[in-house]
Amino acid sequence: MALARIPRLAALSALAALAACSNGSDSQPDLTQDPAVVEQGKQIFRFDTFGDETFWTDTLHMNEVVASAVDPTTALSVGLKVDSEALPAEVVQGIQNGSISLTSPDTTVALLKLNAVVGLKGTVENVNGKDTLTHLGTTCALCHSTVDNSFAPGIGKRLDGWPNDDLNPGAIIALSPALTPAQKAVYNSWGKGKYDPRFNLDGKNGPQVIPPAYGLAGIHKITSTGDGDEIAYWNRYVAVTQMGGHGSFSDSRIGVNVVNGTDDQVTSKLPALQAYQLTLAAPTPPAGSFDATAAARGKVLFEGKAGCAGCHSGDKFTDANDRLHLPSEVVSEPEPNGEPSYASRSATKMYRTAPLKGVWQHAPYFHNGTAATLDDVVNTYNVRKSLGLSGAEVADLVQYLKSL
Ligand code: HEC
Ligand code: HEC
Repeated sequence: MALARIPRLAALSALAALAACSNGSDSQPDLTQDPAVVEQGKQIFRFDTFGDETFWTDTLHMNEVVASAVDPTTALSVGLKVDSEALPAEVVQGIQNGSISLTSPDTTVALLKLNAVVGLKGTVENVNGKDTLTHLGTTCALCHSTVDNSFAPGIGKRLDGWPNDDLNPGAIIALSPALTPAQKAVYNSWGKGKYDPRFNLDGKNGPQVIPPAYGLAGIHKITSTGDGDEIAYWNRYVAVTQMGGHGSFSDSRIGVNVVNGTDDQVTSKLPALQAYQLTLAAPTPPAGSFDATAAARGKVLFEGKAGCAGCHSGDKFTDANDRLHLPSEVVSEPEPNGEPSYASRSATKMYRTAPLKGVWQHAPYFHNGTAATLDDVVNTYNVRKSLGLSGAEVADLVQYLKSL
């Protein structure tokens, strides 16, 4: 809009300048253009614990739980994934011919030693002649990566940025012997694909859908409530306040000030980590997964009668860089089961219009997962916003969403 009034050439050079600093800050170089930095960020995303073993091992004793009670079958059943590319040929063979037991916790320890369990980082040391899991930590990949199941269900090549919607983080944390029964009850109430990234700080229970970490380039409101202008804001929040990494996070808007340890293992990694995330594009829909003719009709509705493009605007399908929305404007509140408004627990008290690229990939929908499918999403809008869409129009809109 404002651009229309600037002469065309000036507008173009302004755009070029914007493109040159696509990570949102005008003085910094665009790290996404530096392959070495991006590679470093990938290693951090997949394998860095930021020293969070202090929490997962020293406080929660998860290494002991895993080594004594979590065989690979159990691990897969709570949604943990195995990176098939980290498995040497003899292990692949052993799994295939059954000589490697999937019902022995020793196999889990062996997989951790190979660095093959997505999002878990184990230190395995020889103690009295036996491989022993002495330390265990978590990485970003735990929740924001999955695998393509090309080897077996839960075992395959990594898909970074894809939310692990099979993962039951609450059930995993609840295995810790260090928690009270009341805490365990909360963790066990979340279910798979959900996690409450504020419960340990505000004591309120309202689990959030684990969102994708892809498709965020060019979006300068991060999280469903737009708490940060850059991904790095939230990366620091999670690394320190949720994973228990060594470093500090402070935001007076939410009254949070956490300092873990004296050796900051987070700050120096944030630029590379963010650069890697910015390279993760939303996945395109699989061939044949939607009806192109119906989707074309749906696009007309999306931009017209249904009013979706009023908020889901531009090529990212969001107005997030311009404004956020009041809880009264969204169709996902009130929260289910009498849970407190998620926005009320956030820094902005508002919601960000969700970007829609790759939306076919990551059901359920809305911050709280109240819509199981895209049909549910459109039906909810149709009723709550009195759009008056016919059944056929709803179906067309759904096909359009599947095409993004
Ligand atoms: C235990 C699961 C879990 C782990 C581990 C985790 N996250 Fe998240 N992540 C979440 C949840 C849940 C949200 C949704 C928070 C919200 O919207 O308020 C989220 C949100 C995000 C977002 C915002 C996405 C958006 O659409 O704006 C980014 C980026 C992100 N996480 C990156 C990371 C990084 C980087 C790490 C490692 C430092 C990490 N996460 C570790 C569960 C996790
Ligand atoms: C008033 C602004 C507004 C309008 C109009 C609007 N949306 Fe949304 N949309 C949002 C906000 C805000 C969210 C995030 C809500 C949440 O996280 O609970 C959202 C979330 C969604 C999601 C979930 C995405 C995800 O990642 O879970 C879909 C799909 C969606 N909208 C589609 C539509 C369609 C289709 C229409 C038109 C029928 C529409 N929206 C109209 C603001 C809007």
